[in-house]
Amino acid sequence: MARGLRKGLTSYGDEGFALFLRKAFIKAMGYSDDALDRPIVGITNTYSDYNPCHGNAPALVEAVKRGVMLAGAMPMVFPTISIHESFAHPTSMFLRNLMAMDTEEMIRAQPMDAVVVIGGCDKTLPAQIMAAASVDLPTVVVPVGPMVVGHHRGEVLGACTDCRRLWSAHRAGEIDEVEIETVNGRLAPSVGTCMVMGTASTMACITETMGLSLPMSATIPAPHAERLRLAEASGKVAAKLAVEGGPRPSDLLTPKAFRNAMVVMQAIGGSTNGIVHLAAIAGRTPHRFALQTLDEIGREVPVLVDLKPSGAHYMEHFHHAGGVPRLLAQLGDLVDLDAPTVTGATLREVVATAEDVPGQDVIRPRSAPIKAEGSMVVLHGNLAPGGAVLKQAAATERLLQHTGRAVVFDSVIDMAARIDDPDLEVTADDVLVLRNTGPKGAPGMPEAGYLPIPKKLGRQGVKDMVRISDARMSGTAFGTIVLHITPESAIGGPLALVRSGDMIRLDVAGRSIDLLVDEDELARRRADLPAGPVRPVPERGYARLYAQTVLQADEGCDFDFMVRKPDEAS
Ligand code: FES
Ligand code: MG
Repeated sequence: MARGLRKGLTSYGDEGFALFLRKAFIKAMGYSDDALDRPIVGITNTYSDYNPCHGNAPALVEAVKRGVMLAGAMPMVFPTISIHESFAHPTSMFLRNLMAMDTEEMIRAQPMDAVVVIGGCDKTLPAQIMAAASVDLPTVVVPVGPMVVGHHRGEVLGACTDCRRLWSAHRAGEIDEVEIETVNGRLAPSVGTCMVMGTASTMACITETMGLSLPMSATIPAPHAERLRLAEASGKVAAKLAVEGGPRPSDLLTPKAFRNAMVVMQAIGGSTNGIVHLAAIAGRTPHRFALQTLDEIGREVPVLVDLKPSGAHYMEHFHHAGGVPRLLAQLGDLVDLDAPTVTGATLREVVATAEDVPGQDVIRPRSAPIKAEGSMVVLHGNLAPGGAVLKQAAATERLLQHTGRAVVFDSVIDMAARIDDPDLEVTADDVLVLRNTGPKGAPGMPEAGYLPIPKKLGRQGVKDMVRISDARMSGTAFGTIVLHITPESAIGGPLALVRSGDMIRLDVAGRSIDLLVDEDELARRRADLPAGPVRPVPERGYARLYAQTVLQADEGCDFDFMVRKPDEAS
């Protein structure tokens, strides 16, 4: 098999000349023949001035390179798209598939025998793993790691659960202009990803559980020296894969691994976004992700990790308590420890090395869980024939069974215009409904599902209400919030039929979400819906591709033509 620079050579009749040309050009960078004759480990560089979460990426790249060279292979760094949550318009989710395609094609196009992908901010690890699954070259994932915590007035703060909580307090008039500015400088005190159990942390934990990254890679804080050593070790593993071969993504992304990922997602109080991303990753393999399985697993798996937003601590505390290996040890027979990892060791071997930290209370034993059931539930009903999700671990207990009057917003713009209107007819018992915020509707399924509490109710002390939408929600958010309603309203899902004043029933125990309007009336309303798409398909570019081919949330919002057919060869 062609290795190193010879990989993927096209001859056009003269392969020798192709190699001669490649070498001539690369020698312009000062490489020797000794360097160029070795197997190559590609390393993605996702540093960007627009992505503070990846602020440590250059240092990680250097450490990975060192590891690769120590193990006798040749590192080659190349750039790909980088996406940050706050700097991606219209939404980072809109760009995830673009990053997946970019990463996939650059791995395919350039000669490399293994690849290290370095990512972390919410959409980046999913995009990179989707790419890795499609290319199926040996891959080691290196997460950039979580930020360290901030402090304010003796309180520990974290991005961005506390961003929301303190901003709500500011909106309610409890925190003044000067203090909120001070808080602003303390919420994200270092580079790295949000240090609560948001989407970035969820994906990093899932990645480690599926064996795609090295043990402890999810939790070591971004600025710690230990993370650089992990990057160096990851480089060594990648070099070994490049030189000797070893597990490929297809060897790791097995039904066992997806099941383990779902168990861990439930046990950590993971982000609902993890569901969409896991479905997209599964779509790149011969296996599929079933919402129903996630719900069944959630009935058996307790929440064991006490992290915000469902609990009290932050990622660095999870790390010092033993991280994912300790969690897997506590989960015991709920996970399949025969699953392999990229180092060649099984999860069982990883668990055998898990640190047992005396007195830690961040990772609970099964005998004393945070919540007896898992963090996420899947709902069905006449409002969500294709399913919807709710993070019960971050919801208000008394609202889990609730029937209330709908207050409907037709779009994010409509909501922004009216939610704080003092004349808005709304009470704390109502159900806030937001639609046209799904994959095609917004587009890009923004994290608009965390509808703000109307200002006039916030000032009365209302902290939570039932809110439902076809949008997503940040994994760092808190509330009784029904998300990912499928099919979305923009393609005629039943959410399009709701009118203000209708009654909606949420029954989490019964796993249902229903619009209490009779069938005949719903049929009349359906006949009245405007024909054609709610939002015109854009004329050109990526936006057109997105609008035409994006799948619904239950299929991971990947593009329909990127999904692997069950019988397709890799
Ligand atoms: Fe990057 Fe939260 S904004 S992980
Ligand atoms: Mg997020």
